[in-house]
Amino acid sequence: MAEIALQQCISVDCGATLGIDEDRFSCPRCGSLLDVRYDWSKARIPVSLSFFDERAAAATGRRSPVDSSGVWRFRELLPFAPADQLVTIGEGRTLFQGADALAATQGVPAERLFLQYEGFNPSGSFKDNGMAAAFTMAKRLGRRRVACASTGNTSASMAMFARLTTAMDGEPMRAVVFVGGGKIAMGKLAQALDHGAITLQIDGDFDACMNLVREAAERLGLYLMNSVNPFRLEGQKTIMYRVLQELNWTPPDWIVVPGGNLGNCSAFGKTFSELKELGLIDRIPRLAVIQAEGANPFYALVERQGVKFSAGRYDASVVENYFSRRRREGRAAKTVATAIEIAQPVNLPKALRSLEVMNGVVRQVSDEEILDGKAMVGAFGFGCEPASGASVAGWKRLVEEGVISRGDRVVCILTGHALKDPDVTIGYHGEMDGHQVARTLANRPIRCPADVDRIEKIIGK
Ligand code: F0G
Repeated sequence: MAEIALQQCISVDCGATLGIDEDRFSCPRCGSLLDVRYDWSKARIPVSLSFFDERAAAATGRRSPVDSSGVWRFRELLPFAPADQLVTIGEGRTLFQGADALAATQGVPAERLFLQYEGFNPSGSFKDNGMAAAFTMAKRLGRRRVACASTGNTSASMAMFARLTTAMDGEPMRAVVFVGGGKIAMGKLAQALDHGAITLQIDGDFDACMNLVREAAERLGLYLMNSVNPFRLEGQKTIMYRVLQELNWTPPDWIVVPGGNLGNCSAFGKTFSELKELGLIDRIPRLAVIQAEGANPFYALVERQGVKFSAGRYDASVVENYFSRRRREGRAAKTVATAIEIAQPVNLPKALRSLEVMNGVVRQVSDEEILDGKAMVGAFGFGCEPASGASVAGWKRLVEEGVISRGDRVVCILTGHALKDPDVTIGYHGEMDGHQVARTLANRPIRCPADVDRIEKIIGK
């Protein structure tokens, strides 16, 4: 396999290559991000994407775990490890839902809006797709200790995978998690603890944790599981394969996804440029990345300062100036969607590249819009966590703007499960005992005596 895959610096002016077994996480020559690249002529690429339908139909859970994995059933399109070395815990068996009732609230006709629920992964978020790939690499490299900085979901996923994976020498893996003090939803913290991760609550925000874990990984020999690890993004490409498969391999018009550390949107752009290069699709959907107003660096740089990838020669000084000004002013990220409360996303250059590949746009939405978006998914679908509500809020905004037309076929990616952050949901719907709430879709619990007559009064005949 080694000769099919390599790592390559994403900078067009550098383009240095490394073997896939070198865990550097940035280019040793120029410091840019790394991509996993394939020599497709040596890979066994199916002639048509419908090849994957037969495999999906034949797979039966525990009897064929690799074929049942929503990541590895597409393994020909991420061929960096042989089939007998792939790590899987049952990731990627997610749900795709037509959302006609939700669409109708915005005057959008049936069969135009779809929701991809990544919250139905084993650990409750899309991170499991990436972890399957990154743990495959950790195992191959003989690593036993894995680490990440996290706003909660990465740590939950990594902790679960570590518990369910043995290292090459048969010993259990050990997870070390760096979370910002007080910046993590309870459900996610609970998961890391439950799965036995060493959980370090750092005095600082996600960005501080990210810097710290990079240094700690290098000095203490921890294998880094954040999305600067390019194998994570290989796993996350499969979210798009599953979306395409559900749509009978016809690309939609738009993919809408929340943006925090910008790993997902980076992976999606790579998916589509590769599928196009391989001649497996003839059209690339457009991309909308949605950020919270209080954590909007990608929006500010792209939509306000006009930063463009420009075939890899984007203006890095504008980006640098922006971040150093924010740091000087002490401006921290702040949003109710704690998953995406990130001031300095590590995948920014790759995300710019995705916008170029997918003719993308970036929007910011308020916390109020995020909460209403989340409530709409709860009212008309299976529910989601706050950050995922940004997808629906962004879709609504772009329909209002006329950027997305009502006839466009749109897939909103819902990144995390509704039960991750029940505090926010309860807060939205209001407390018992009568204090006022002004949310659009609030559904308050009603205090009621144990008396059927009174119940009849409330619910009607
Ligand atoms: N949605 C959820 C539920 C997330 O947990 C995250 C990121 C995102 C969206 C943003 O995705 O980083 O690919 O742009 N959570 C990370 C974590 C940062 O630590 O769990 P992105």
